[in-house]
Amino acid sequence: MMDIRSAPMEGLTDAVFRRVHHRLFGGVNRYYIPFVSPTSHHCFPPREQRDVAPENNAGVPVIPQIMTRYPEHFLWAAQEMQDRGYDEVNLNIGCPSGTVTAKGKGAGMLREPDALRTFLDEIFAHSRLPISIKTRIGFASPEEWDALLDILRQYPMKELIVHPRIRTQFYKGGVYSEAFALAAQTELPLVYNGDLFDLPACEELQQQYPGMPMMLGRGLLANPALPRQLNGGAPLTVEEVRRFHDALEQEYSQLFPRDQVHCRMRGIMKHVACCFERPEKMMKLIAKTNPHTYHDAVEKLLLQPLREAPGYVP
Ligand SMILES: Cc1cc2nc3c(=O)[nH]c(=O)nc-3n(C[C@H](O)[C@H](O)[C@H](O)COP(=O)(O)O)c2cc1C
Repeated sequence: MMDIRSAPMEGLTDAVFRRVHHRLFGGVNRYYIPFVSPTSHHCFPPREQRDVAPENNAGVPVIPQIMTRYPEHFLWAAQEMQDRGYDEVNLNIGCPSGTVTAKGKGAGMLREPDALRTFLDEIFAHSRLPISIKTRIGFASPEEWDALLDILRQYPMKELIVHPRIRTQFYKGGVYSEAFALAAQTELPLVYNGDLFDLPACEELQQQYPGMPMMLGRGLLANPALPRQLNGGAPLTVEEVRRFHDALEQEYSQLFPRDQVHCRMRGIMKHVACCFERPEKMMKLIAKTNPHTYHDAVEKLLLQPLREAPGYVP
C-alpha cells in the first residue's frame, strides 16, 4: 500500500468531505484537518469545533493541524486534541495568506528563524503529543531553505511535510525540486506535497523517491479515485463522480441552509470538474453557478467524458 495523505484545505476538505471520501473511495492513510488557530480565549470557533469534534471524524483517520506563533496557544490546542483522542498534531508554518503572515503565523514564521527556534524549543519540550510539521521552503527566497532546514533538523518531529514553494508564490509557479532533494539528504522523515495533480505526476515522484509518502491537495479533489488508482485499483468513473456528488450534497443539506450547501458544493465541484474533458471550460461552468443554476450545470458536467489521466488543471 502506498502512503497517501489528504492535504488540509480550509473550506474544502471539511469533516463531510473527509467522511464521504473515505467511505466511497478510500486509499488515503491520513486526512489532515484544516488548521485551528487558537488564541488566548481558549475556545474553538464553530467551524473549528465542528472540524475537530471526534463524533464528526468517527472511523476516519485524521490528524488535526494547529497554526499559531505562541507556544502556550499551541500547547493548549495540542492538549485539547489529546483530550479528543487524537494521537498526533500537525504544526502549520506554511500558510501564505496575507492576514495570517501579517500576524506572524503560518509562513510568517519562516521570516524569523530565531523566533521559530524559540517556538519549537518550547512546544517540543512540553507537548505530550507527537508533533509533525507542514512547511514551505522559505518566505521570500528559496535561499532561505538551507538555514531553515538546519533548524528543523534539530527537533524530534514525527514527520516533516514539505511544500517546496516560497510564501510569495502562494500555490502558483514552479516547485523547487532541488529544495526537496536537499531535505531528502537529511535524516528527517519526509512527506512530499505539491502539484501531484494526476497519476503520471505521482508515479514520477515515486520513481525519484521510492516509497515517499505523498500528500495530495488539488489532485485529490480533481480525481478522488487517485489514491485507489495509485494502489493498483480501478480508475474513476462518471457514475462514481455522481455518487460522490450526491453523497456530499446530502450530508451538507443536513447541516446547512441551501445557499451554504451550494457554496460548499461549488467549491468542491469546481475542482472535480477538472477530471472531465475540456477541464477549464467545465471548471468555469461550475464556478459561475448560483443555487438556481447549479444542478443543471452538474448534469451538463456529468455528460462529458472523463479525461485519460484525470487530475487537476491549474
Ligand atoms: C483553498 C485552500 C485551503 C488550504 N488550507 C490549508 C490549511 O488549512 N492548512 C494547510 O496546511 N494547508 C492548506 N492549504 C495548502 C494545501 O494543504 C496544499 O499544501 C496545497 O494545496 C499544495 O498541494 P497541492 O499542489 O497538492 O494542491 C490550502 C490550500 C488551498 C488552495
